[in-house]
Amino acid sequence: MRSDMAYILLGRDEIQRKVAELGEKITQEYRGKNPLMVCVLKGSIVFFADLIRSIDTPVEVETMTASSYGAATVSSGVVSVVSKLDEKIRGRDVILVEDIIDSGRTIAFIKADMLQKGVNSLKVCSLLDKPSRRVADIKPDYLGFEVPDEFVVGYGLDYDQKYRNFPDIGVLKPEIYTH
Ligand code: IMP
Ligand code: MG
Repeated sequence: MRSDMAYILLGRDEIQRKVAELGEKITQEYRGKNPLMVCVLKGSIVFFADLIRSIDTPVEVETMTASSYGAATVSSGVVSVVSKLDEKIRGRDVILVEDIIDSGRTIAFIKADMLQKGVNSLKVCSLLDKPSRRVADIKPDYLGFEVPDEFVVGYGLDYDQKYRNFPDIGVLKPEIYTH
């Protein structure tokens, strides 16, 4: 997989240090609150697994699906949310965990939906942020790294369902996705 990358943007050690930092922040702010951490599938699974283990206070976990991409590197703008969390989030302190905020449409849509369903509080924790492409007015409450306007893969992020298991975050060579 390494040979498909033009370069590595974030190495695994740098990612782990940041995840530990985020975990400490969440630990301090949510101690005794038993927050419900929601993994937005599938891109967040690797980040989510590391993040929850860096939090040193009890949390509960749930998963949900949201997709807007297909086999493209530009968001289609159509967000379909498949969430069966309606009852489970009522009254809870929810932390939504995302891999990357790009246009912001996905997270804006999920947030609006969850707020309507009566959460006690709602925060967004995203590993990556690509603010240059923002369409929806949204900012993560907890952020790992700001990234340039490049399509990135690895550490859970995919291109056409591939590279999720690549341990670093890299930028694909253009010829991998432009043919
Ligand atoms: P948004 O709705 O445009 O903010 O898109 C967010 C979703 O698009 C993320 O959760 C990712 O699944 C996907 N995405 C956006 N940018 C990238 C990228 O650079 N690499 C891989 N997936 C991405
Ligand atoms: Mg995603």
